[in-house]
Amino acid sequence: MSHEAFPTEDPAVVTCGLPYANGDQHIGHLRTYVGGDTYSRALESLGQETAFVCGSDMHGTAIAVTAQREGVDPETFATEYHEQYEELFPQFGIEFDNYGHTDDETNHATTREFVRTLAEAGYVEEREIEVAYDPTAEQSLPDRFVEGTCPYCGEHARGDECDEGCGRHLEPGEIEDPVSTITGNPAEYREQTHKFFRVSDFQAYLSAFLDRLEGTDNAQSQPREWVEGELRDWCITREMDWGVDYPAEDDEERAADLVLYVWVDAPIEYVSSTKQYTERVGEATFDWAEAWGASDTDTVDEEARTPPAAATTNVDSPNPGGEIVHVIGRDIIQHHTVFWPAMLRGVGYTEPRAVMASGFMTLGGKGFSTSRNRAVWAREYLAEGFHPDLLRYYLATNGAFQRDVDFSWEKFRERVNTELVGTVGNFLYRSLLFADRNFEGVPEADLSPAVRERIEEAITAFREGVNDYSIRAVGEATTALARFGNEYIQREEPWNLVDEDEAAARQVIADCVQLAKAVAVLFEPVAPHKSEQLWAQLDEDGSVHEVTTDAALEPVEGDLGEPTELFEKIEAERVEELNQKLEDRVADATDEESDDDSDATETQESPDDEETDVTEFEPIAADRVGFEEFEELDLRVGEITVADPVEDADDLVRLEVDIGVETRQVVAGIKQLHDTEELPGTKVVVVANLEKAELFGLESDGMVLAAGEQADLLTTHGDAEPGTKVR
Ligand code: 2FM
Ligand code: ZN
Repeated sequence: MSHEAFPTEDPAVVTCGLPYANGDQHIGHLRTYVGGDTYSRALESLGQETAFVCGSDMHGTAIAVTAQREGVDPETFATEYHEQYEELFPQFGIEFDNYGHTDDETNHATTREFVRTLAEAGYVEEREIEVAYDPTAEQSLPDRFVEGTCPYCGEHARGDECDEGCGRHLEPGEIEDPVSTITGNPAEYREQTHKFFRVSDFQAYLSAFLDRLEGTDNAQSQPREWVEGELRDWCITREMDWGVDYPAEDDEERAADLVLYVWVDAPIEYVSSTKQYTERVGEATFDWAEAWGASDTDTVDEEARTPPAAATTNVDSPNPGGEIVHVIGRDIIQHHTVFWPAMLRGVGYTEPRAVMASGFMTLGGKGFSTSRNRAVWAREYLAEGFHPDLLRYYLATNGAFQRDVDFSWEKFRERVNTELVGTVGNFLYRSLLFADRNFEGVPEADLSPAVRERIEEAITAFREGVNDYSIRAVGEATTALARFGNEYIQREEPWNLVDEDEAAARQVIADCVQLAKAVAVLFEPVAPHKSEQLWAQLDEDGSVHEVTTDAALEPVEGDLGEPTELFEKIEAERVEELNQKLEDRVADATDEESDDDSDATETQESPDDEETDVTEFEPIAADRVGFEEFEELDLRVGEITVADPVEDADDLVRLEVDIGVETRQVVAGIKQLHDTEELPGTKVVVVANLEKAELFGLESDGMVLAAGEQADLLTTHGDAEPGTKVR
C-alpha cells in the first residue's frame, strides 16, 4: 500500500530516538536530532500539521550501572543529563514541541496501560528462563550488568546487545561466558520467571507492515531477515528497581521485583510526549489520540480499527491514525521496525508510516571515542563561537541520511566557505545591497516568468525531498536556488545595466529579491536562525517559521534597508587551532587511560562511539553491461596542460588536456578539492567521446574521471602516453 503524499489531512508526529540520559552529547549524536528537526520543520512548511516530540531515556541498565559506579542514585544521575539536554537542543534550533522523559508520570501511566492491554489481549506470557546472577553481589545481572561472548558471532558483547559484532539484540540468558560487571567475577545462570511479549504472533503482520513502511531503505531492508526468519518472543521484564514497574495485579509478589525492559517504556514515551503536548496546547491544536489512532477519541474511525484481540489478523489494514515518522540512528532499526510496531499493533494504535535511520558519524575518518575524548562536543562547538546553523547545514546536507558521514574541521570550513558564504550568503548580500543602494528598496517590476518557474522548481524539489525522506534534498533545493541566483545576477550584470537600461536592471534585482525571499522560506528547516535573520532583512512580518512554501512566491513588500552578511568565512588558522586542541585532548585522555587501566567509561559507549572505520559504499549497480557497451566509451590517457579557475563559479576549473591526437578543453567541478596551480602535468583519464556540454558559458569537450566526494583524480600507474586508449 502506498501512502498519500505529504502534506496530508492527518496530523503527523515526528519523533527522534530518545537519548539515554547518561553523558554529554557530541556532534555525532546531533545528527539524528538535526535530521528530525529539519524534517519536522519541512513538513510544517508544506502545511502538514505536525508535532515534533522526544524525551530523555532515563531507565535501563546503562544508566543504573554508571550511576552505581558514581555512587549516586539513577534518578539523580539521569535527571542531571535530562536537564542538560533540555537546554542544549534549543541552542541548536532543535525545537521539540514537547521534550519529556521516560520516568515522568505520564510515561509510567501510558506504559502500564500499554502492557495491561497487551496482557489482556493474550500477547504476554510467563516463562521460566535462565538469567545471569552474581553470587558475590547476590543480585541478578540484567543487560549491562553482564558481559560475555555473543552466541551468534563470537564477538565480545554486552548483556542485551552485540554492539561490537553483529549488532543483534540479545535476550537474557543468551550471552556466553558471562562475567558480572559489578564484581568482575564469572556469573552463574539461575532460573527465574519472566514475562514475554509474543512477538512471533505478529510475524505476518510485521511482514505486511515492512512492505508498506516508508523512510530510508535500510529501515525496510535490514529487518526483513529478522521478520521473515525465526521471530522470537521478547522478554519484557528485568529483575531490578530502576524502571517502570511491571503492572501485574494478578501476580503481585513476582511483579514487585520486576520492572519493564527499558525498550518497552522508551518508545512509549513517543506517545506520552505527544499526550503532554496536547495537554499543553489543547486538542483543537493537536490531538494526540487522533495522531496515534488511540481509541478514546471520536476522530478515529472505530469501524476501520483492528481491535487488540485481533491484532495479528487482517494484516493488510493498518489502524487509522496520523502520520508517524521515527528518525533514529541505524543501530536501533530492529527496535523500531519489529518490537515497537508489534506493540503498537497489539494495543490497536496506528503504525509508523516511516522510519528514517541515519548512518554513523566519524571524526576525521575514525569513530568518535568519548573515553579518549576524541569528539567534538556539542557545547564545545558553541563555545568556539560557531553558529549552530553552520553545523545543521553540514549535518543535513553532507550525504544521504542513511550514509555514514565524516566530520573534520577542514571539510566543515570548506563547505561553510564555499556553499554558505560563497553561494548563499554572497548571492543574498550582493542582491539586497544592490537593491538598497540603487533602488532604495525592492524595485518595482513583475517577477519574470523564468525566475518564477525556477522558484516553483525549487519548491517542487523541496516537496519531493520531504516525500523521499531526503533531508539532503530539502537542503539542496535552496543551495541550488541560490546558485541559480548567483549565476543570474552574474550573467545579467545589473551594475552595467543600471545606467544604460535602468528598467532591465530593475527587473533583474526585483527577481533577485524574490529569489532571496524564496531562499529564506525554503532554507528555514535547515538553517532556522539564519532564515529568520534574512526574513527580518526582507522586512517581512512575523516569523518565517510560521509560513508555508507558498510564501516563496508572495511579493516582498517591506522596506529593505542595508543588508548585513549572513555568513562569515572561517579562516584556515582556526582549523589548525581546532585540530591542535583535539589532538592535545586525545593525547591527555590517552595518558590518563594508561595511568588508570580500570577506566570504566568504555562500558557506556554506544556503537557510534567505537573507534572503527564505518565507511559504507554505494551498492554495486544491479544491471550488468556487456563488453561491447563498455567499449562504446572512448577512454584516453590525458595530461593536464592548463588549469584555470572559472571566475565566479563555485567549483569549476577550465582544463586543457592533451589527449595525444588533440588538446581538449574540459570544464571540471574540482576547484574546491584541488590546488589548480598543481594540476598541470597531472596524468588523467578522459572520457573522450562524451557529448559536449556548456558550463558557465564554456564548452566542455570531455570529462576527467575522479573518485568520491574528494574528486580523487584517476591517473595511470606507469608511463602510458597521452592518447593511449584505456580499457
Ligand atoms: O539507543 C538509545 O540511545 C535509546 N535510548 C533509544 C531509545 S529510542 C526509543 F525507542 F525510545
Ligand atoms: Zn554478535
